[in-house]
Amino acid sequence: MIYADYNGSAPLCREVIDYLKDRLENGPYSNPNAIHHLGQKTKMAMENARAVCAKTVGALPKQIIFNSGSTEGISQVFFSLLYGKVNEGRKRILISGIEHSAVINCAQFYSDDQGYEVTVIPTQQNGQCDVNALKEIINSSPETVAMVAVMAANNETGVVQPYKEIGEICQSTNIPFVCDTTQFIGKTPFNFAESHIDFAFVSGHKVGAMTGAGFILAKDPTLLRPLVIGGGQEKSLRGGTQNYIGFETIAVAMNTFEQKKEKVENLQKKRMDFEKKLKEKFPVVIMGDDAPRLGGTTFISYPGIHGQAVQIELETQDIYVTTSSACSDNEPTTSKVLKAMGITDDVGRGAVRISLGPCSPEDAYDKIYIALEKAYEKLGKIKSF
Ligand SMILES: Cc1ncc(COP(=O)(O)O)c(C=O)c1O
Repeated sequence: MIYADYNGSAPLCREVIDYLKDRLENGPYSNPNAIHHLGQKTKMAMENARAVCAKTVGALPKQIIFNSGSTEGISQVFFSLLYGKVNEGRKRILISGIEHSAVINCAQFYSDDQGYEVTVIPTQQNGQCDVNALKEIINSSPETVAMVAVMAANNETGVVQPYKEIGEICQSTNIPFVCDTTQFIGKTPFNFAESHIDFAFVSGHKVGAMTGAGFILAKDPTLLRPLVIGGGQEKSLRGGTQNYIGFETIAVAMNTFEQKKEKVENLQKKRMDFEKKLKEKFPVVIMGDDAPRLGGTTFISYPGIHGQAVQIELETQDIYVTTSSACSDNEPTTSKVLKAMGITDDVGRGAVRISLGPCSPEDAYDKIYIALEKAYEKLGKIKSF
């Protein structure tokens, strides 16, 4: 079996599994907010996890607010920056055209509920947000912008965004920069202190840790307001008894990534060889081909062959990939991200996402190549559109 949906959810990494076996067997289990000895021991493990996470991303422990993951984190940051009378005069939200629904739907909510105007920054053909267009939008009236939200790497294409440049622009114009780093941190070296980002996000299940655990990185945590009120946990920024074992697994996964950074380069090389071979043999299109991309992400299309047909064919060979296509009336459509890049339907409908991680087996790309070659040869004879 080859699991190639790391961008959807990564399997627990080996080090996390080993850690959990011991952790679950031996404890400690307690409420980390209890003042008895076991509570304090549990809290110490959780605070150690915070310190490890902070060190691996170049942040301070106090800049980490543990939560359930990126959707919650993004919602809390939007709430903190936009809800109520926090923004007299600043009524515009700028977002890229390739954001995850966790960002798009928040922007839509604050537009409907609080009267913000959402402006979508154009996307270039290579899948990167157009920084010059963003500059022009901001420069026309910086004092009206309440926030800029542009992700660090796209979940479909893996295209890495010019987030540092965007951060610098935001910093120089005094606009909060919210950067969805869910697909970036834990897959690519990252330093929060040098990023010019005000708020960033991690979801444990994207980095080989447990699902339902994550954190916000906040340059200035005093700007946050609690979305979940509760009893003062996380310095009153996120109520509810903490998922301390989940947080510990993030620390283990992030630390493992830190120790094995060379694996990312290796993965990138293998991905490039894999794509080169495919391009030589088939008339395929690789989305964001000439842009910097995550080491293990290929979003590929063979125009004329439905992505879903390829997905099913690969599944019969025990290989698990995804398409980005939302299916309605058996009419798979081109994803919003690809549309923003100007990709036409004949290419968009064929899209298949193959996403691996540093812990994928060494021969994963070789096996996927053989299976994909078989699938394209078979389906190419009965092209579906
Ligand atoms: C770019 C991006 N942002 C946000 C999210 C939401 O993460 P979660 O479902 O862990 O809250 C995802 C998950 O797919 C994602 O890929």
